[in-house]
Amino acid sequence: MCFGTVPSPEVVKAFDVSMTLYAEHSFNASTFTARVITSSLSDMHGAVVGGIASLKGPLHGGANEAVAHMLTEIKEPEFAEAYILEKIKNKELIMGFGHRVYRNGDSRVPTMTEYYYKTAAYYKNEKLPNISKILEATMLREKDIKPNLDFPAGPTYYLMGFDIDFFTPIFIVSRITGWCAHIMEQFSSNKLIRPLSKYTGSSHRKIK
Ligand code: COA
Repeated sequence: MCFGTVPSPEVVKAFDVSMTLYAEHSFNASTFTARVITSSLSDMHGAVVGGIASLKGPLHGGANEAVAHMLTEIKEPEFAEAYILEKIKNKELIMGFGHRVYRNGDSRVPTMTEYYYKTAAYYKNEKLPNISKILEATMLREKDIKPNLDFPAGPTYYLMGFDIDFFTPIFIVSRITGWCAHIMEQFSSNKLIRPLSKYTGSSHRKIK
């Protein structure tokens, strides 16, 4: 339906694997957002829309698009190391690396990487995985930071021929299942989610 041809079984399998890995991932930012919206007894549609708004940010689901932009910007494997070293020097974030919870690597990455490389082999593209391997090794050596799921998923969708603007919506198509399960669970034993914040400012301020 996306490309006007029936995709090969290899491509279908890689896409299916990405959908499975993206479907549910506990209390990430978008799922928590959906839970908070549900907890006021708002409706499921509102909670899903809130989840989408949270997920599209580049620190969350928007990272799969950012990874693809980075790879297309690098262009050739021989430019990859210098590209990352420059970013590290400028204290910039490198998309597709790091995780708020996994401190020693994202458990979803080995499976997705296997299907990324299989997809690249299917399309006879050595360049993209070679760039990724250099980025991964350089980040590990320089910062001791490992890739997250968006790092292999982004280029896999790129190889399949999706426009980069579609990558995060594809993630959403899958994650909606996880959000809806959380929304139903929240409704079934609801308590309003209402955290307190700790004020650390000055105790007295003069009114001018
Ligand atoms: N590129 C460069 N530096 C990074 C980095 C990245 N992707 N991720 C973490 N770091 C740096 C931090 O800036 C911090 O440096 P500092 O000690 O000099 O301040 C250090 O590593 C430790 O960071 P940490 O506390 O482990 O990260 P975090 O938990 O605050 O952030 C993310 C987690 C996901 C928000 C962060 O890794 C990130 O922005 N990654 C890129 C976006 C991305 O891929 N998001 C998808 C997540 S699944």
